[in-house]
Amino acid sequence: MLHTIKKIGVLTSGGDSPGMNAAIRSVVRACAFHDIKCIGIYRGYEGMIDGDFIEMDARSVKGIINKGGTILKSARSKEFRTIEGRTKAHEQLKKADIDAFVVIGGDGSFTGAMIFNQEFNFPVMGIPGTIDNDIVGTSHTLGYDTALNTVVDAIDKIRDTASSHNRLFFIEVMGRDVGHIALNVGIAGGAEEILIPEEDLGLDRLVESLRRSKKSGKSSSIVVVAEGDKIGKSVFELKDYVDQNMEGYDVRVSVLGHMQRGGSPSCFDRVLASRMGVKAVESLITGKSNYMVGIKNDVMDLTPFDQAVKGKSKINMELLRVSDIMTI
Ligand code: F6P
Repeated sequence: MLHTIKKIGVLTSGGDSPGMNAAIRSVVRACAFHDIKCIGIYRGYEGMIDGDFIEMDARSVKGIINKGGTILKSARSKEFRTIEGRTKAHEQLKKADIDAFVVIGGDGSFTGAMIFNQEFNFPVMGIPGTIDNDIVGTSHTLGYDTALNTVVDAIDKIRDTASSHNRLFFIEVMGRDVGHIALNVGIAGGAEEILIPEEDLGLDRLVESLRRSKKSGKSSSIVVVAEGDKIGKSVFELKDYVDQNMEGYDVRVSVLGHMQRGGSPSCFDRVLASRMGVKAVESLITGKSNYMVGIKNDVMDLTPFDQAVKGKSKINMELLRVSDIMTI
């Protein structure tokens, strides 16, 4: 039996990621398909508290599937972490006759939605939008595939100049506390070493690996460093350490930063976004709430928020072994 939901809100929250616009487009069009009104909520939970809303229809989201970023803007809201802030948000939703919302964001955004649901019994659904791919319950978060391709392209470009000048490059990539981005781009970019939080390589092993690369005749090297890596040194300190302790290295550092969050979403992310938006809307209107939409073995799935927000998705150990072999 279709649940009596007549108007659904959609918002983007937390760090943005490529594919968020494609997901907004899918939620809006899935609502239109089911004759349900859709309200865009600007600036994440901050805009929900402010009642910063806009009516959206199938035409409002034309021409955005290929655009990075989010037309609804995103934000992190301290006020929403308070019961007063969430109460203001609830009042705004009720004033606008919004019956449910879809939040596109990371685990922090889902935690907020879960608490909101508990406090107001308000139907909510989550779409995992983050480049980190660190959320339990989905093999891919939205933006991860695009970020991988962006970073691999950057590594290929850096490798051109590294080999021209026989240099060692430390390249820092995003991923917050997990090493999914670093591990995959390290393998794809042919990095000589990959430093990730899940495996404490240790400085000695890094030095020994670099020495081995040099001895094998490699005139330039790339070391990919996940920003959450625990070796205890920043990429700049790693450079200093090599400068001071290793002969014959001309070392440079490249911190890729927020360019990893931008760009036109890949085909994979556009299709994933389209599938997740439909799944989120159709789950809400059939009475489900408090779930994150995910993809597992290419099948759309739902994971309860209280599981999705617990812990981080684990590194693929087989991939780690492949990386160890490839960096011989
Ligand atoms: O969660 C996505 C992410 O890009 C992380 O990889 C990164 O550590 C963080 O956001 C950066 O946060 P901000 O956008 O606040 O600088």
